[in-house]
Amino acid sequence: MNNKPIYVTMPSLAPLNEYNEILKTVWERGILTHNGPLVQQLEKDICAKLEIDNFVAVSNGTIAIQMAIKALELKGEIITSPFTWVATVSAIKWEGCSPVFCDIDAETLNIDTTKIEALITDKTVAIMPVHVFGTPCNVEEIDRIAKKHNLKVIYDAAHAIGSTYNAKSVLEFGDISATSLHATKLLNTAEGGGCIAPDKHLHEKLKRIRFFGHNDAKDIVEDGFNGKMTEVHAALGIANLKYYDEVLADRHKKYMLYRNELSTIPGLSFQEVKWGTSNYSYFPVIFETEEQLLKVEKALNAVNIFPRRYFYPSVNTYTEIVDYQPTPISEDIAKRILCLPLYWKLEEKEVIRIIDVLTKSE
Ligand SMILES: Cc1ncc(COP(=O)(O)O)c(C=O)c1O
Repeated sequence: MNNKPIYVTMPSLAPLNEYNEILKTVWERGILTHNGPLVQQLEKDICAKLEIDNFVAVSNGTIAIQMAIKALELKGEIITSPFTWVATVSAIKWEGCSPVFCDIDAETLNIDTTKIEALITDKTVAIMPVHVFGTPCNVEEIDRIAKKHNLKVIYDAAHAIGSTYNAKSVLEFGDISATSLHATKLLNTAEGGGCIAPDKHLHEKLKRIRFFGHNDAKDIVEDGFNGKMTEVHAALGIANLKYYDEVLADRHKKYMLYRNELSTIPGLSFQEVKWGTSNYSYFPVIFETEEQLLKVEKALNAVNIFPRRYFYPSVNTYTEIVDYQPTPISEDIAKRILCLPLYWKLEEKEVIRIIDVLTKSE
């Protein structure tokens, strides 16, 4: 048995000496935070790489969602997906809003746009869809519904750096997108995130909110807080960004290897990309039953391979933090979905071994 454990993901990291070279400049300047030069450079470099206009780097993806809600001054119900990480919902709650769960489309695993309008009440202020596993939502339909009902749209785009719609970054849809630069993401700063607002005024407002509500003259003009990214984190982002294209292409290649090999196995299904292009940064497999999933998980664990049950359980069932609202498709799929290991330095022979164990234990 190969004893080196294989986890669902590992951070994509630039060579340490390249990170150290950038860190040296931090030591020389003695500037560690407060929108320093490296944070500004990272924002500029991300904008250039993704061909977007406005990126506000912040301390994590959860804060990015909270800042988006704050910037849009939302108070009321926000329609969101239950098939997500709990942060989507806790951010809504921390900003004093109430999550309303809309079930998901069984193929894309994203919010089912045909079910949104039935959930709109006079308290609804926004829609917060999630681009699950980097697969873009039906952004045009969401835009149409939002305009019709005068609602704001915030995308939880934690997974969506590198995903596109009509050849444009999916981060530029909606009023604001909130992304994550967490260690597990395609591009990481260890902890980190970003707010993307195509509107210039909102973009400026987000920058003030990130910095205690200061304007340029250092007057407090907003109800802000501390959402700042440090120079040390930005340095890691700049170092890692150099390898972004390579990481993106590598994940896609391994994704296709899994997909091609596993698609012949009866009883397995996969997330479908119906709108735009995914960044292929996760490889979820949907089993016919939870029992099958547990059997495969056990077989993989036995040879030191640790896939993850993302997202399990469906967030609407966390009754310690939300009132239960049924979303049967999300609840069902959450029990049957398993994300297989997929990361930059994962060797192709290991992908083949994972496929082999899965095929034999199915
Ligand atoms: C869908 C989703 N939203 C939000 C977040 C929160 O991002 P962060 O961990 O950077 O706070 C995550 C975290 O992985 C996530 O998966």
